[in-house]
Parts: sequence; C-alpha cells; structure tokens
Amino acid sequence: MPRAPFDWIDGATERRERAGLVRVLRSRAADQDLLDLASNDYLGLTRHPAVTRGAADAALRWGAGSTGSRLVTGTTALHTELEEALARFCGFEAALVFSSGYAANLAALTALGERDALIVSDAGNHASIVDGCRLSRAQTEVVPHADPEAVRKALDAHDGPALAVSDSVFSVDGDAAPLPELAAACREFGAALVVDDAHGLGVLGEGGRGGLHAAGLAGADDVVATLTLSKSLGSQGGAVLGPARVIQHLVNAARTFIFDTGLAPAAVGGALAALRLIEAEPERAGRARAVAAELHGRLTAAGLQAARPDAAVVSVRAPSPEQAVAWAADCRGAGLAVGCFRPPSVPDGISRLRLTARADLTQDQVQWAVDTILRTAPTA
Ligand SMILES: Cc1ncc(COP(=O)(O)O)c(C=O)c1O
Repeated sequence: MPRAPFDWIDGATERRERAGLVRVLRSRAADQDLLDLASNDYLGLTRHPAVTRGAADAALRWGAGSTGSRLVTGTTALHTELEEALARFCGFEAALVFSSGYAANLAALTALGERDALIVSDAGNHASIVDGCRLSRAQTEVVPHADPEAVRKALDAHDGPALAVSDSVFSVDGDAAPLPELAAACREFGAALVVDDAHGLGVLGEGGRGGLHAAGLAGADDVVATLTLSKSLGSQGGAVLGPARVIQHLVNAARTFIFDTGLAPAAVGGALAALRLIEAEPERAGRARAVAAELHGRLTAAGLQAARPDAAVVSVRAPSPEQAVAWAADCRGAGLAVGCFRPPSVPDGISRLRLTARADLTQDQVQWAVDTILRTAPTA
C-alpha cells in the first residue's frame, strides 16, 4: 500500500513537539486589552489618526488594490510620491517601493549579486537576506556576527564584483552593526555595502532618518539601503534606496519587483502619512530609544540578562524555549503582550523575550511592563 504524501509531516511535527518548538497562530481582536510590547510599531503610528486617514483616503481614491505589477498598471502617482519622500528623508538619490521588506531584500541581493559576484553576509542577518543570498546566482560567504575584519578577509580572497550585506540593527538582540567599519572594509576592495535598515528607520539617526544616515553613509555611491514600511512607519511594504543607476537596474532586473503586484494604495498612503508625521515630530525617534534604554536598565538592575539595546528592540534571555513560551504566556495573562524568540528563529539557540520600546509608551506603562515581566520571570 503506497504511503500518503504528507505522512512525513507527522514525524516532523513530533520532533517539533519534543523540542518545545511548535508555533501556533493567535488572531487578535481589534479592541484587545493588552499593553503591546510585541509588535514592531516602534513609533506607535499604526493607529495614529493621520496614518489611518492617509491609508483610508488612498484606498478611496485609488482602489483597494494597485491592479497590476509596477511596470504595467501598479504604479500610481502615490507610489512615486512615496519613493521621492523616502529618498529625500533618508538622504538617498532614489528609491523603489516593493510589496514587502522581504521582497526588497530579495530584489537587492538577486539583482546585485550576479553569477561571478561574492556576497559576504553577517551570520545574524534576517531570514529575508539569507533567502536573497540563496536565490542570487552569486557565491555567498557567511561571516561571524558584527566582524568587519572577517568581511575584509572574505573580500580580499575574492576576485570580481562583491558586496557585503548586514542588518543595521539585528532583530534578535537589538544590537547595531558596525556600519562605518563595514563601509571601510568594502571601500578597500571596491565592494558595495547593502544594509537592511528595517529596525533603524524611524529610530536611529537625526529625526529617525535611519542607521545609514546616522553613520554618514546615506547617499554614498557605493551604499544601498533596504527598508520595511511595516515597522516605524506603521504600514506595510518595503523599499530599496540607493544611487539612481542601481534603482534603474532593479526596475529592469529584480524579479520581486517585475513579477509582483504593486503595493496596495492604502499601504502607500499610510506610509506616506507616517513619514510626514515623523518629519514634523522628529522627537519620536529619541523617545523610542529612551524607552528602550529604560526597559533595559530596569530589567538588568533587577537581575535579568539582556543585551544593551542600540535601537528600540530589547531582548531578555530565557532559560529554555519552554520557559520562554510560558513566560510570554504569563505576561499575556497579566495583560502584557511580549514577543518570544526561540530556535530556529535565533541563530545561537538562546530563547528570549523580545520587547518593543514604543515611542508612545507613558512612564507608567513602562514601569508596569517592567513589574509584570519581573513578577512572571522563571525562577530557575
Ligand atoms: C531585519 C528585517 N528585514 C526585513 C524584514 C521583512 O520586512 P517585511 O515584514 O516588510 O517583509 C524584517 C521583518 O520582519 C526584518 O526584521
């Protein structure tokens, strides 16, 4: 008797259960009564009236969908306006909007990583960078985390076009990449630097202009940024920023641009409204960083282990995947939503609670969150 085609899944499920790594989807209600330290809404903009109004107006004016791929009917005047606004705000010559940050990373790495090229990728890079490297025809060398000397060595050993790629802020521990040192290593060998500023935009740099702006690298002719519109901008979508000739090349060569329906007008309108807000209220970036520093300071003073945050992500170590899940559930039971990272999402196998330091949290909310995390902490 032939085996059913999905029988092998049962074995994979059992292994996952034994390791305490089963993931489940939980839908949230629009009016749920939880303090949110789990989302990526760093600046608290996703429900800001100006942002939801921007999204709603765009949908009413342009429709619910963009109707086609960007090269056919999917480029509205609003897409062009957002691209110009993003490039100007972050300090780059040009920008291109994608349907997600994931698609933006795949685009940059596949279109810039030609067959004879080398991509040098930090071991802590986001999954979308890992997948971009896998999809590109280039050879990829993964180097130890935040190690510019390792990048230098890899570039030195390669003859031909090359690029180094790194998150600007790493999503697991919230630490920042050594961008000036990475740029120096790249420049020594004529390599490009591609930086995913998903967690830097809105939080780092003057008024939230991002990690590359903070490092004085925005707009350089050998630097490319990838972004998501789904974190600080409170919307959805992604972008690649860089020299105009790079952006033109992506329009012609990046498959996740060419063969994907353009970003929905509502997401474009929401992101544009958020960008205008950040420009008008530049203090939000500093407030997000201050909340992160405060969360970290109070939790570590009480004996918990957490990496010092360079942006708005605070990661607190948990003793095991099971205890991380139970800790997050206890926080939730007390009214606090926190993220929970565990293998295989963490490269080093260490499970963590992941806290988002939102710019719109009050002092009372920060104190209450700290008290709740400490009260529910595993005792072992
Ligand atoms: C560092 C990083 N890059 C890229 C992405 C993907 O962005 P998006 O969610 O817009 O696809 C994320 C988000 O989840 C991220 O954390």
